[in-house]
Amino acid sequence: MGLLANQFAKTTAMALQLRRRCCGTPRRVVITSIWVTTAVLLMGYLAGDDLAGDMSFVIRWANTTDQACLHPVLKVWPKSMKAHYAKVPWPLRCASAGPNWVFVVNGTFRISAQARMSHGRITCVYTPLLRLPDDVTVVEGAKLSDMRDGWPITSDFFKANCRASDGSVRDHLISGIAYKDQVHKRRPAPGQPDPAALPLNVLMFGFDSTSHMSWMRMLPRTHRYFTEALGGVVLDAYNIVGDGTPQALLPILTGLNEMELPEARRGHSGANRVDGHPWVWKRFREAGYATQWGEDGAEYGTFQYRMLGFKEQPVDHYMRPFYLEAERQYNRHYPYCLGSLPRHLNMLNWVRQFFDMYPHMPKFSLLFHSELSHDGLNDLQLADKDTEAFLRAMNASGYLDNTLLILMADHGARFSSARQSVQGKFEERMPYMGFRFPACFERKYSEVMRNLRTNVHRLTTPYDIHATFLDILKYDSSVNQGDIRQRGISLLKEIPRERTCVDAGIDAHWCVCLAWEAVSTDDTNVKAAANAIVRLINELTGIKRHLCRSLALDYVTSAVRYSPSDRILRYRGSKDDDGRIADLSGSMSVTNVLYQLMLVMSPGGGVFEATVKHDVNRNQFSANVKEISRINTYGQQPHCVADELPHLRQFCYCRSQIQ
Ligand SMILES: *[C@@H]1O[C@H](CO)[C@@H](O)[C@H](O)[C@H]1NC(C)=O
Ligand SMILES: *[C@@H]1O[C@H](CO)[C@@H](O)[C@H](O)[C@H]1NC(C)=O
Ligand SMILES: *[C@@H]1O[C@H](CO)[C@@H](O)[C@H](O)[C@H]1NC(C)=O
Repeated sequence: MGLLANQFAKTTAMALQLRRRCCGTPRRVVITSIWVTTAVLLMGYLAGDDLAGDMSFVIRWANTTDQACLHPVLKVWPKSMKAHYAKVPWPLRCASAGPNWVFVVNGTFRISAQARMSHGRITCVYTPLLRLPDDVTVVEGAKLSDMRDGWPITSDFFKANCRASDGSVRDHLISGIAYKDQVHKRRPAPGQPDPAALPLNVLMFGFDSTSHMSWMRMLPRTHRYFTEALGGVVLDAYNIVGDGTPQALLPILTGLNEMELPEARRGHSGANRVDGHPWVWKRFREAGYATQWGEDGAEYGTFQYRMLGFKEQPVDHYMRPFYLEAERQYNRHYPYCLGSLPRHLNMLNWVRQFFDMYPHMPKFSLLFHSELSHDGLNDLQLADKDTEAFLRAMNASGYLDNTLLILMADHGARFSSARQSVQGKFEERMPYMGFRFPACFERKYSEVMRNLRTNVHRLTTPYDIHATFLDILKYDSSVNQGDIRQRGISLLKEIPRERTCVDAGIDAHWCVCLAWEAVSTDDTNVKAAANAIVRLINELTGIKRHLCRSLALDYVTSAVRYSPSDRILRYRGSKDDDGRIADLSGSMSVTNVLYQLMLVMSPGGGVFEATVKHDVNRNQFSANVKEISRINTYGQQPHCVADELPHLRQFCYCRSQIQ
């Protein structure tokens, strides 16, 4: 018994050790020997008084008990979220505009044959749209009065005002990828690419304000194709590091947060434009990559709204000028349409065109779409089929065969209504972040894929995405373990299980790891929780009471309590426009708490680990058979029911024992 008790004490102390453990010490943790899949479940919380309805959510079995950060595993459709969602009309009405006459194929201006059949000869005036070096001005270049089918476009963005011989007219605003000699002729900088670089394109596509769960709710086809058909993995404990889009994209693209970067905010003394930031696309360009970046919502540009934006065009193909012009004329189009094209599809097409233009060059592409998801949760479902079809087409063209595909979001919904439950608070902090490597890569770099899959459950952040990019540019195969001292750790390395929010640079009010504390085994609630476990076990064996003895609690070995951190519950929002100062005046209270107990029962000395939910308002303790594990051997103790009722083996101590 002493030996066992000793082992259990070690187990409970494990979480503590994890926090104290220094980097470099052996990582195999004691617990693996008596590893138990501990059920972590049923943390229902009731939020503040401004809420109605069922605000509970479930934390499912999480294989995270052997790591420092125990994160919640959220339900996709908890009751508290259903109220915020509705089906939206599909399809969009773009087709009512009649098919566009003009489109672009690999840098070539095309007039559709169908339009010519319907309207006769078509003549188009081509007006290039050009960026001035200030990120806000778009000017018209020299017009070409008779742009012919098959001619090369001279600018990525242009207007095409067309007239047909039957008298009808049609205006277009088009985005394409124009042939750029200097990009095709680009050679890597001296010494680049690094001989250890991984031969991968990077294709990153994001939707604004979309939590991991919201993505699964609103983009189920895309999620299914990405995870099931393509084998992509989505990080389960990906945690934001600040409020708003810049606090996601700056760490991803520079490895630094806004406070660590040179002052670039409008109206602040000494502020400069953001050109000098250490953008990762500069590194990719040096390594010989063609680069692409764009986002819609030009008025609220991530680096332009509060910040001064770019003077020089930051990447080879930069979509901002297109949106500056397009958004001015949205009122002339059906909702979410640009002529006959849905606007999200136009953006996806632009990615596709970038891949078409540079089949033999390495490519870095980041597009970020906000219009459908920034102001409400529901409209994003309008993009599901098209996004899935886009991925299918990219795969079918072979473009994914040498591309790291990343589907992502910056943070979850920030609308007050969605944020007002504990589920909503967690969702805000846990955006979608999915990675998919090509199948051949998976065969060649199996250790990378193993690490990535392990990291699905580990605490990860936007800084890690940046570190992953650097690892792609210079892959160090000699190191398999991430260094806990580094704030950003490449996802190609194993993220240490000891990692906490402090290590990862996550402030307490953003940290999704559940707060835990050891509780005295004499605590009244612990005793009540233990009784709930005993009661349940005896209920289970009750049907065979003539064979199995009723068990009694011998003693509780250890108890730990889990709940959301106090700072998450109190976090209301940012006090300032820059999202730097947290307002912690909220008062959402936890009404359900989780106890994890280890206890010994008699007769038979059965040792169990179990999780019990405490509903604080009703003062009810509930255990669930799925969350009770016997962690010592039962040998012949249940021989009288073992064959007939195998599920009772761990609980039944037979009246007649075999000597
Ligand atoms: C948890 O880990 C066990 C053992 O490694 C595995 O069999 C099980 O499928 C895992 N469960 C989840 C939900 O990942
Ligand atoms: C597109 O055009 C570029 C430049 O002429 C060429 O190198 C590339 O092969 C073309 N792509 C396709 C898919 O035909
Ligand atoms: C990807 O494309 C290849 C080649 O066209 C095809 O064989 C494969 O089935 C596709 N995979 C998926 C998941 O669509």
